[in-house]
Amino acid sequence: MRTIEWADETEAVKLIDQTLLPGDYKILECTRVDELIDAIKRLKVRGAPALGAAGAFGVVLACMNARNREELKNEVEKLKKARPTAINLSYGVNRALNAAIPGKDMQEMRSYALEEARRIAEEDVAVNKKIGEYGSELLEDGDVVLTHCNAGRLACVDWGTALGVIRTAIEKGKRIEVVACETRPLNQGSRLTTWELLQDKITVTLITDSMSAAVMREGKVDKVLVGADRVVKEGVINKIGTYMHAVVAKAHNVPFYVAAPLSSFDTERSYKEVEIEERSPDELLFFGGKQIAPLDVKVYNPAFDFTPFELIEAVITEKGVVHQVDVV
Ligand code: MRU
Repeated sequence: MRTIEWADETEAVKLIDQTLLPGDYKILECTRVDELIDAIKRLKVRGAPALGAAGAFGVVLACMNARNREELKNEVEKLKKARPTAINLSYGVNRALNAAIPGKDMQEMRSYALEEARRIAEEDVAVNKKIGEYGSELLEDGDVVLTHCNAGRLACVDWGTALGVIRTAIEKGKRIEVVACETRPLNQGSRLTTWELLQDKITVTLITDSMSAAVMREGKVDKVLVGADRVVKEGVINKIGTYMHAVVAKAHNVPFYVAAPLSSFDTERSYKEVEIEERSPDELLFFGGKQIAPLDVKVYNPAFDFTPFELIEAVITEKGVVHQVDVV
């Protein structure tokens, strides 16, 4: 199934519970907006484009749960704030809400919101295929591509942005291998990227985040390709560690690419104006339920970082490739 979709039979948002992968593959159904908000906060559904679809389907649930427009407004505000950094969440919420507003009652608003949410989900897949088309031209037969976090089908409705580029290149007959960074502390790279690539029989090697400089110096990486949570005026906000890989790539003359749909663009805003989500210290104090640091140590745990355009060779969108010279 897709990462996230609407189930008519149960009137629920259905999603793959990503916190259980790769050990267990389970589908979660949310019929209440607060259940979906909880799933978003716990990263059961995550990745910028998937959050856009989640936000839109969440408005459908909000229309079903709310008794009047005032209650709907409150639910929708909570939904938007579930995670602050990826702009796609509020993009999806706003689109579905604007579509719902002309409805004469909650029932009609629900059906307008659902139509729009389904459109957003379909668009996401089509946009990723386009990104794949443009991006695959940048990859050469035999390339080894390093990626960080998960910008694959699990981060989207389907296909993926960064991993979608790799899938398209392989579909076109290019031999591409992937190096996946584990992406501490929540390990989206080791848990999700490796899992979904192996499902498609794409060759992938797992490394720790701290190995990226060493593998680049050893000449084992031809390109770096990541996704984005938000593209801002001066660069790209993405999973913590992205900036480190970009600096390292620059030092080793390895081209660094970002694949992102236009729905992730917020180029009127500076990175300084964007809230970077800070997550619980427990993510660093415990691993797999086991304590790995003194409980009274001070912890700093931002989920994302900012990479300036100077370090980015090009941004791949559904409308084409934007090279550094065009934006700086
Ligand atoms: O905290 P997450 O797992 O939601 O972070 C996801 C990322 O940083 C992805 O790289 C980004 O959303 C792009 S997904 C196509």
